[in-house]
Amino acid sequence: MFRVTVARKRTEALAIQTFELVPSAGLPLPSFTAGAHIDVRTPTGVVRQYSLCNDSQETHRYLIAVLRDPMSRGGSVAMHEHLQEGDSLLISAPRNHFPLEPDAKRSLLFAGGIGITPIIGMADQLARLGAQFEVQYFARTPQRTAFMNRIEHSPFANRVSFHFEDSSNAHQSETRRVLASPAPDTHLYVCGPEGFMRFITLNAKECGWEESNIHQEHFGGAVFARESDRAFEVLIASSGRAYTVPPGQTVVETLAKAGIQIPIACEQGVCGTCLTRVLEGEPDHRDALLTPAERARNDQFTPCCSRAKSARLVLDL
Ligand code: FES
Repeated sequence: MFRVTVARKRTEALAIQTFELVPSAGLPLPSFTAGAHIDVRTPTGVVRQYSLCNDSQETHRYLIAVLRDPMSRGGSVAMHEHLQEGDSLLISAPRNHFPLEPDAKRSLLFAGGIGITPIIGMADQLARLGAQFEVQYFARTPQRTAFMNRIEHSPFANRVSFHFEDSSNAHQSETRRVLASPAPDTHLYVCGPEGFMRFITLNAKECGWEESNIHQEHFGGAVFARESDRAFEVLIASSGRAYTVPPGQTVVETLAKAGIQIPIACEQGVCGTCLTRVLEGEPDHRDALLTPAERARNDQFTPCCSRAKSARLVLDL
């Protein structure tokens, strides 16, 4: 991680603030591509991922937008309340799990609420390339809609459709209309709350979209616990000791109680800090990090949020 300075903090929409981050040591910032995010160590010490929402051609700054979520464990609230202009912040270099498909002939971008943050940079890039694309932007109200002014004054303003709180039937029929013509060279990008992404991807699949043409960016804050969760056992290979992970507790928490510390940062299955090798058993992957192929190998998992489908996991610890 490296230090940056908060050069500008402003209210972008109701409950959404943007932070403009510039290099602290006068060094250039690592370059990034549209759709990338950075890890940010928030004032409470927890690490959160934020998409970069400025144009990827800019090299002098990173722009992030933070939704104040009082239900979170304090990361976003601390960013809103305690982080001020002039403060310094530790961040990671940008990584991109949500890149634009270079060979796409047409792109459909769906943003739900704060999910606009990677999408707006992607739209900047597609517009610059003269590509064929459209943006569907769903938000609760205009007051809660980030970057409305920027979009309305952008060269792609006429490609963005805003959808404000409405009946889900209206959203469904509009979504179906936009998704109605899947094609091999058309790619779909979805970012927003989990429920929103499920809604869009489910509709896309029902309209005949191929899995490989659907791209999603997951944000932290997903609900990992499920009612159907059962207890399972983790066995530590080096000691031969076994521990029971009850429902409502993570593997990391269970092992921490036994004095076994697994390094963690995001605790949401997005950063990879806790990735642990699995020697036996089948994980129940709940991260947003591993690819489908990596998941299928079942030889690693994220113990901060993932669980087990088998009765026991043997961990390479
Ligand atoms: Fe980030 Fe587990 S701590 S993936």
